[in-house]
Amino acid sequence: MNILGIETSCDETSAAVLQDGRVASNIVSSQLVHKSYGGVVPELASREHERLIVSVIDSAVDQANIQKNDLDVIAATAGPGLIGAVMVGLCFAQGLAYALGKPLVPVNHIEAHIFSGFIQETPADEAPAESFISLTVSGGHTMLCVVDKNLQYEIIGKTIDDAAGEAFDKTGKMLGLDYPAGPVIDKLSKKGDPCFYEFPRALTAHSRTSKSYRDNFDFSFSGLKTSVSNYIHKHDPAFIEQHLPDIAASIQEAITSVLVEKTVAAAVKFNIRAVSVAGGVSANSGLREKMEDACTKQGIRLFIPKTVYSTDNAAMIASLAGLKLSRGTVTPNKYDIAPFASFVH
Ligand code: KG4
Ligand code: ZN
Repeated sequence: MNILGIETSCDETSAAVLQDGRVASNIVSSQLVHKSYGGVVPELASREHERLIVSVIDSAVDQANIQKNDLDVIAATAGPGLIGAVMVGLCFAQGLAYALGKPLVPVNHIEAHIFSGFIQETPADEAPAESFISLTVSGGHTMLCVVDKNLQYEIIGKTIDDAAGEAFDKTGKMLGLDYPAGPVIDKLSKKGDPCFYEFPRALTAHSRTSKSYRDNFDFSFSGLKTSVSNYIHKHDPAFIEQHLPDIAASIQEAITSVLVEKTVAAAVKFNIRAVSVAGGVSANSGLREKMEDACTKQGIRLFIPKTVYSTDNAAMIASLAGLKLSRGTVTPNKYDIAPFASFVH
């Protein structure tokens, strides 16, 4: 079975072909037009998707060595995301499905991230078989879920303010780094000291309030943002410049230590022996290292997608559509276009 996946929820125009459950192609075109604005401009994102979508889909189909007529299913992100951007991909998918006389499967972008640790490229790659704890960390979401073997899940914690990716991007912007600052902070951190300054770790045992946050799986990163802002204003620019790698490493340490602590605590509390980490921030090398160490110590299996499947991509859209079709848990051609997360079980 050939499934075409289309992803246009934010600033990546992406198309992928899944052949009998495995990725045959995955084309991702990242929009550079937003760089000078320090964030994604929704109107520009929609226009760029419109400009790129035909060539990106053509490349994905070509690279899979098939013709469009060989496609059996079209899958596309139906939300959450920038509504104009989502509509470009979904309307294109609708038109293509109609022209080819094939079913259209709507995919929730965040659900696709949740299962992206199980994208299959080779026969050795595993499909989700047992329950797992899912940490999804992207530019817009930070969320912990318990996922059962029937692909049903329950959200046990989420951010009460900023997402982890947003925390990377906004603190990076304060330091004068390019957007998106997550990968830049990651790179700088390799040369810095993570213990240089202790930025706050909210809602954890290490937070500076006396309240106990045991079994609290929510996150908060707005205090970190304020703390970084105060830190920058208290020091002269030459000092900040000189210690940029140390400050970046300290920010990364503050964000990733909270993510690891809460994820492992959730696995222990719910007695689940597998963890999956996904979303753009799962590309972070510090997070990968820390999570691997912590999971190994607890005897927990860890699933993290290859970095190309961490950030937005259409392979995860096609893969989830394939998984749901194989388990009969999705109704093709039945969907709403949604800017916000609507998790329907
Ligand atoms: O999942 P994603 O590609 O798009 C959304 O759905 O939001 O995530 C984008 C986020 C951005 O905030 C970006 O800074 C962050 O993922 N990111 C990283 C890294 N690579 C991407 N954050 C930290 N370290 C990285 N290596
Ligand atoms: Zn995403």
